[in-house]
Amino acid sequence: MQTRPPVTDWATDFDHFDPQWTANPYPIWADLRQRCPVATSQRFEDGGYLPTRYDDVREIAYDAEHFSSRRVIVREHKLPLGASTAPPITSDPPEHTAARKVLLPAFAPKEIARLEDKTRAVCRSLLDAMGDRAEVDGAVDYAQHIPVRVIAHMLGVPEEDGDLFRSWIQRVLVDGVRNPQIVPPTVAEMTAYFDQRIDERSAQPGEDLVSFLLAARVDGAPLSREHVLGSLRLILIAGIDTTWSGIGASLWHLATHPQDRARLVAAPGLMQTAIEEFLRAYSPVTMAREVVKERDVGGCPFKPGGQILLSFPAANRDPAVFEAPDEFRIDREVNPHAAFGLGRHRCIGSNLARMEMTIAIQEWLARFPDFTETPGRTTTWSEGTVRGPRRMPITILRRA
Ligand code: HEM
Repeated sequence: MQTRPPVTDWATDFDHFDPQWTANPYPIWADLRQRCPVATSQRFEDGGYLPTRYDDVREIAYDAEHFSSRRVIVREHKLPLGASTAPPITSDPPEHTAARKVLLPAFAPKEIARLEDKTRAVCRSLLDAMGDRAEVDGAVDYAQHIPVRVIAHMLGVPEEDGDLFRSWIQRVLVDGVRNPQIVPPTVAEMTAYFDQRIDERSAQPGEDLVSFLLAARVDGAPLSREHVLGSLRLILIAGIDTTWSGIGASLWHLATHPQDRARLVAAPGLMQTAIEEFLRAYSPVTMAREVVKERDVGGCPFKPGGQILLSFPAANRDPAVFEAPDEFRIDREVNPHAAFGLGRHRCIGSNLARMEMTIAIQEWLARFPDFTETPGRTTTWSEGTVRGPRRMPITILRRA
């Protein structure tokens, strides 16, 4: 991996792979919002833009005419167009509308409710496996497995393939930002994996998402094999480290804020507002857009070709929209956060993500009502596009 020069001016040289950003991005955004709300960088091909205000992020997310989703990850070197299409997230209107509509029924509230027992069983088996250890890793032993197993169940693929899925995600979303040559072979590996699943399900349809996509029709016609493959790759990537990060960040907050932990244990009715506040305060997902037509936003000219780091997490800390945004308020009542995006690409998996986060935290607290980040050991956070704890040493203080 190449080493990168440290950032000296975040306004003109931002880098979301800088260790300072990885460890604690919030003060960087607060500073930029005050003095240069749209930062720029030449570290990314054709120039990078980073809007930090809610309204600017919103304006870009709603404007597909000037800001395309054809490239949804800011990379040092752009991949050729079409190198990793994943409808609907990489589509613009009009194609986007049908590609999105086709997926919606599979993620509707009643479908997701059917997965609650499975999710609870996954969480309980992970907690059982921790035995009576005094120290566990909340990310490695718990958070990272839950969405993998739930998505594998939905796709009808082996849950034991989790390590493979996580390695694809690391290569596409993290390593591939700096070393683009590893992305095409990784996409090819994923394609080969799902090609085989498609053959199996074509011969013998089941209740899974692969069969669902094969049976889907748009204007009476089946989806092309390329389309099905792209959507399957997307569901796998979008459904795993996002939610793993959301669960992990929530646990990290509870491990480091004893008052909130005690309050949630004493008043489980706060769970719903707590989950929304975890999502706002520690939003895991940052996306990208490519400028396709020149346009000014927030007083900054966006030039065609430029890559926009569309930080929903930064929008969620904007004091113009959220009172005391750097304060975690477990009972925050007005919380129009953008963790699941804004506009036409708003997350299709939000019901699933909320359900998994809720059950993961409920089950953890039911087993370990008191716990803390292990003193002297640090939590490490993922780099780049999706932010969440990857190692999180936790000492169990009390078992239920
Ligand atoms: C805490 C967990 C999650 C977060 C924070 C999250 C966040 C997001 C965000 C910000 C977007 C908007 C992308 C854009 O504007 O370009 C998005 C889109 C999407 N998400 Fe999620 N997501 C999560 C979990 C999931 C899950 C579990 C799934 C399902 C497997 C999923 C599937 C999708 C899909 C298919 C899209 C594309 C929608 C479209 O383009 O119309 N996400 N997500």
